[in-house]
Amino acid sequence: PKTHNHDFVIQATPVKRLCKTHNSITVNGQYPGPTLEVSNGDTLVVKVTNKARYNVTIHWHGIRQMRTGWADGPEFVTQCPIRPGGSYTYRFTIQGQEGTLWWHAHSSWLRATVYGALIIKPRQGDSYPFTKPKRETPILLGEWWDANPIDVVRQATRTGGAPNSSDAYTINGQPGDLYNCSSKGTVVVPIGSGETNLLRVINAALNQPLFFAIANHKFTVVGADASYVKPFTTTVIMLGPGQTTDVLINGDQPPARYYMAARAYQTANATFDNTTTTAILEYKSAPCASKNCPTTKPIMPQLPAFNDTNTVTAFSKSFRSPRRVEHEQPLLRSPKQHFNSPGLPAGIPGVFTTDFPANPPVKFDYTGNVSRSLWQPIPGTKGYKLKYGSKVQIVLQDTSIVTPENHPIHLHGYDFYIVAEGFGNFNPQTDTKKFNLVDPPMRNTVAVPSNGWAVIRFVADNPGAWIMHCHLDVHITWGLAMVFLVDNGVGELQTIEPPPADLPLC
Ligand code: C2O
Repeated sequence: PKTHNHDFVIQATPVKRLCKTHNSITVNGQYPGPTLEVSNGDTLVVKVTNKARYNVTIHWHGIRQMRTGWADGPEFVTQCPIRPGGSYTYRFTIQGQEGTLWWHAHSSWLRATVYGALIIKPRQGDSYPFTKPKRETPILLGEWWDANPIDVVRQATRTGGAPNSSDAYTINGQPGDLYNCSSKGTVVVPIGSGETNLLRVINAALNQPLFFAIANHKFTVVGADASYVKPFTTTVIMLGPGQTTDVLINGDQPPARYYMAARAYQTANATFDNTTTTAILEYKSAPCASKNCPTTKPIMPQLPAFNDTNTVTAFSKSFRSPRRVEHEQPLLRSPKQHFNSPGLPAGIPGVFTTDFPANPPVKFDYTGNVSRSLWQPIPGTKGYKLKYGSKVQIVLQDTSIVTPENHPIHLHGYDFYIVAEGFGNFNPQTDTKKFNLVDPPMRNTVAVPSNGWAVIRFVADNPGAWIMHCHLDVHITWGLAMVFLVDNGVGELQTIEPPPADLPLC
């Protein structure tokens, strides 16, 4: 195993998109930030120096951080932010994970521009459980504002309203040539005839679940959130923010240029950016290479309608773990219907309380029919205590407050099994019987169906303070977040290490 040392300098950098230049917060002047490539078993040491005027932290999304919670990164949970002028070194080892993850800022809305891919290859001597791809390309889907994202969220918090929707979606930081002033930067992804290539697709957008497709090409899905899946084919994928999907594509079409495109999956009754971002899949033998004949438009893929929940459901139900998982009947904890206690808890002893309710004091359901007074979050820092080794089941119920929406719920420090999902209200009597305890997919972010529910399970084998939150950042702003406090257990292996000396204090 290797140790990889990196320096991340957080700094304001002029970035030009959509005909305008403004200062964006970047890592080492790059937007998106650097791709980190490691192997299972390797150690990453990343020194983050903050030369911007905002507080910042970096989170390694999906890394299990076994007993290294101090490197997890969510501000006010496992650390206080790195102040302007400060620095902090994140240090962790990849243990038993392979596939596509990513890293991003975990402070306010800085992750709008502060993010990058984190790719984990198999150990030396190990191989992929699928055809070795000829070429691998990270595809980072993002959102771009014609403004400073921090100002956008500040304005939203001040007015209590929804923030402005973004001005463009992006692929690897570029809106693509369907947007104004954007044709020059359009990303070109090469493919050779007959090749099998791997695309590592990441939804890094702040607030928007996205559909993604490539004209005339099928995807074979082989992984998601750095867990392998039983391969299946599809023409379109949907990713909630935070989710990753690894797909194989074959160079089996006439040599030409094909658009790959992403746009919103949106069931909420809200204004959103309904435009389409594109990049170009270009055959190396295409009669017309991009530079020579810019007037030939590539072929456009068919993307589902914005509110096409049927396509999303069919897609998410195709996911299976590639192996039978040893799945004991867990302790059936009382299903928690809803995170009804907003407010970001802090993992600092003495700051949080441990009275996060096991059951919501008010019955919420998918019709959203609750008194208007309950729409308003109450500030709080309540954590939910878990005994080391306990078997946890969580029922995530969409409550349709304000509007029904697909919520990508992300848990730090763990991967979990998604044992079931459905529509309406979760019914413990009948729905428990439908659980997949044989080959449920493993993920770190579950797209909870709009007007529906999902059930996840995990074993609390990683001590620390672990935030669980909606990965639509505007919902974190509104309080859709809570923390699990997993105790140290017994014995040295379970014990969390003492905090590093440079851990930023409050
Ligand atoms: Cu990808 Cu708590 O975040």
